[in-house]
Amino acid sequence: MDAVHDFSRREREPEQIDIQTLRVCGRVPYGYGAIDIVNYCYLVHNQKNGQGLLIDPAWELETIETAIRRVGARLTAILLTHSHYDHVNLVEALVSRHQVEVWMSAEEIAFYRFSAPNLRAIDMTRPFRPAGIAVTPYLTPGHSKGSTCFRIGEHLFSGDTLFIEGCGICVGDGADPREMFDSIALLKARCGRDVRLYPGHAFGEAPGSSFEQASRTNVYLNLDDYEKFRTFRMRDGQSRIFDFK
Ligand SMILES: [Fe+2]
Repeated sequence: MDAVHDFSRREREPEQIDIQTLRVCGRVPYGYGAIDIVNYCYLVHNQKNGQGLLIDPAWELETIETAIRRVGARLTAILLTHSHYDHVNLVEALVSRHQVEVWMSAEEIAFYRFSAPNLRAIDMTRPFRPAGIAVTPYLTPGHSKGSTCFRIGEHLFSGDTLFIEGCGICVGDGADPREMFDSIALLKARCGRDVRLYPGHAFGEAPGSSFEQASRTNVYLNLDDYEKFRTFRMRDGQSRIFDFK
């Protein structure tokens, strides 16, 4: 499947990082057939030391390798928001090609018995510095047991916890709407209106929209009562990955 780069963007900030948004496509079994799936993988390049990190590499190895070469980064870290296949399926291939550490929450590793070469558990109590970039991890369960969002400056890489237009489904092993409600409350408390969202999937809005922009249309950012949140999130027919609204 051809890569499409219409959402690719380049951003800079004083800490001299550069964010490449990579739209990657794959196909997963569904029912008696298969469905196309589009993920967003992010390359964050530390322009001070030349190192780069990837968030949720999947589906299109050459698209990702080309982006790494184009910016001239030396890939040294992979950050995983959670263990679902569409977010992790290029980890092994990339570890075999680059000297990288792979980071995931201890909760996600333990609950799903996730394994990968060079895998390390994130200490959630403090920022860490993959590729020499200050990253603050937020443990945000709900979509999966140990889902994690990564904050780099005013950028939030939110996996399948928070999309610009909705939030991740809370169906499946380790998923829990109560935890999702609390996780979204945590993100709202920690992130100001100007923080930009870089989710694992997009449903019309380009990654990089601000919290303030998302708040105008994302119902889950506006449901402050848990029972209302649960009733809406868990309403009938909400079990597919694209049932994000
Ligand atoms: Fe997921």
